[in-house]
Amino acid sequence: RSVSLIGAPTDIGAGARGASMGPEALRVANIGPTLQSHGVDVVDRGNLAGPANPWLPPLEGYRHLDEVVAWNQVVHEAVYAELQGGRMPILLGGDHCLGLGSISAVARHCREAGKKLRVLWLDAHADFNTSELTPSGNIHGMPVACLCGFGPKELIEIGGKVPAINPKWIRQIGIRSVDPGEKRFVHEQELEVFDMRYIDEMGMRHTMELALATLDANTHLHVSFDVDFLDPAIAPGVGTTIPGGPTYREAQLCMEMIADTGRLASLDVMELNPALDVRNQTALLAVDLIESLFGKSTLMSRR
Ligand code: ARG
Ligand code: MN
Ligand code: MN
Ligand code: MN
Repeated sequence: RSVSLIGAPTDIGAGARGASMGPEALRVANIGPTLQSHGVDVVDRGNLAGPANPWLPPLEGYRHLDEVVAWNQVVHEAVYAELQGGRMPILLGGDHCLGLGSISAVARHCREAGKKLRVLWLDAHADFNTSELTPSGNIHGMPVACLCGFGPKELIEIGGKVPAINPKWIRQIGIRSVDPGEKRFVHEQELEVFDMRYIDEMGMRHTMELALATLDANTHLHVSFDVDFLDPAIAPGVGTTIPGGPTYREAQLCMEMIADTGRLASLDVMELNPALDVRNQTALLAVDLIESLFGKSTLMSRR
């Protein structure tokens, strides 16, 4: 397997500064050599470049829209280029607004290659706001809506097709913070959400069995991992901590069950905020979980 690491050092869509340091913190936590030790061919493409964060209030429901568009365009091109070159892109965020650039590139690749797409959205948040629904104007709360065709023209058109993806291709896992208007919209668009209540009652194993059901040999599996998915007790280094997330064990199982499908083809690691972290522990945990995602297991691999 060939992986390309792509750093996107920005916090342009976030409500707290610091996710711009995420890529470097993941490198300091040894993401590259660690994957390499599992037999993965890893190339670090370095960091993408984009506009600085002007830290302005929202304008017509969006904060930093022009800058968000610019960053997503470069992310889109970089992710698309890796897929076309037959490599697996790992996007090192950066805030989650960049999920739009990344997943629109994956969707474009799948369209052209005649592949089906399944998106696993691991997050405390649904990120399904629009400019009318958002309480903050922060665009990291909007990428899923944009991917489904709800958002400003400049953003939703980045992948060349609107909508970039069908809501039916998404499975959201770990959700526990959804704004009131956003909640209605999630229901209206019939997003498939495995929220924390579901995980509490049914367990992570059953949750992942359902989220990964009906994948076949022709399915491209994309994982968009917002680090705030994890319980803040183990992952304090994010801007929008929400209590009551998956434990270390649950998160490991989630990653291992994804690895067992053998279908993982692209990954985003988003929202890591080293300015809020404690001795890089959240970055180290993210790398630990990514090892499991790439098939690390205690004894023999199950596949
Ligand atoms: N729902 C909130 C908002 O729209 C928080 C979004 C947090 N998103 C994230 N990717 N961390 O402002
Ligand atoms: Mn491919
Ligand atoms: Mn989140
Ligand atoms: Mn998110």
